[in-house]
Amino acid sequence: MEIDIELFPSPPDSGTLLDRTVVVIDVLRATSVMVQAISQGALEILPSVSVEEAFQMAKVFPRGSILLGGERESKKVPGFDLGNSPKEYVAERVRGKKLILATTNGTKAFHLVSPGKEILVGSFFNIGAVAKRCLESDRDLLIFPSGDEGDFSLEDTICGGMLIELIKRKGKKSISLTDASYSAQILYQRFKDNLLEAFHLSHHGKELINRGFEDDLVYCAQIDITNIVPEFKAGVIRIK
Ligand code: MLT
Repeated sequence: MEIDIELFPSPPDSGTLLDRTVVVIDVLRATSVMVQAISQGALEILPSVSVEEAFQMAKVFPRGSILLGGERESKKVPGFDLGNSPKEYVAERVRGKKLILATTNGTKAFHLVSPGKEILVGSFFNIGAVAKRCLESDRDLLIFPSGDEGDFSLEDTICGGMLIELIKRKGKKSISLTDASYSAQILYQRFKDNLLEAFHLSHHGKELINRGFEDDLVYCAQIDITNIVPEFKAGVIRIK
């Protein structure tokens, strides 16, 4: 198995995705929200590329069956039901509901990798389960950090590095790394004992603190709090 990571979130050549597992990561906070929401009983999530599209999509569903969630500049969008703090996505709010999410980077990232053979939602919350699933699938793997408006994202790359480390530790067959995935693994090793330090140093972590969401950094640093692995297929995220 070869593991690569897209250090900048540019759309990969679709031909290279057809036989690969792809893991999309947006630790702060979109994929953390998705894993949390599904683990709390949300039926499925439709990741949207824009706020306008999210409102359009919502019109198709009966009133009360759907919740709109996400952010612009980290804050809840006017007219949405929920923002983009994972702590908002509790069973009392989301159980039995479909969600439409629109976030700055994370929800768009899924559409950039849609030709992937198998597209998984990754975060620190479910990192061990994602590693297990990648090993079971036994395909070449592309880790796709959703980045920070087209830029490198420290926290997503570190999460990717942890995934690489776990796969290498548990894998029985030979695993080859690209220069990019080797770099991500080294970054993870630098911060593995203090993920919060990395979050505080990261550009988006600082933005979230300035915008009043410091608690979310602590929350999103939790490791292996669930073993669910949501999957994106035909525009929808759900458990297989
Ligand atoms: C994103 O998708 O860009 C993020 O999750 C943004 C955020 O939560 O602030």
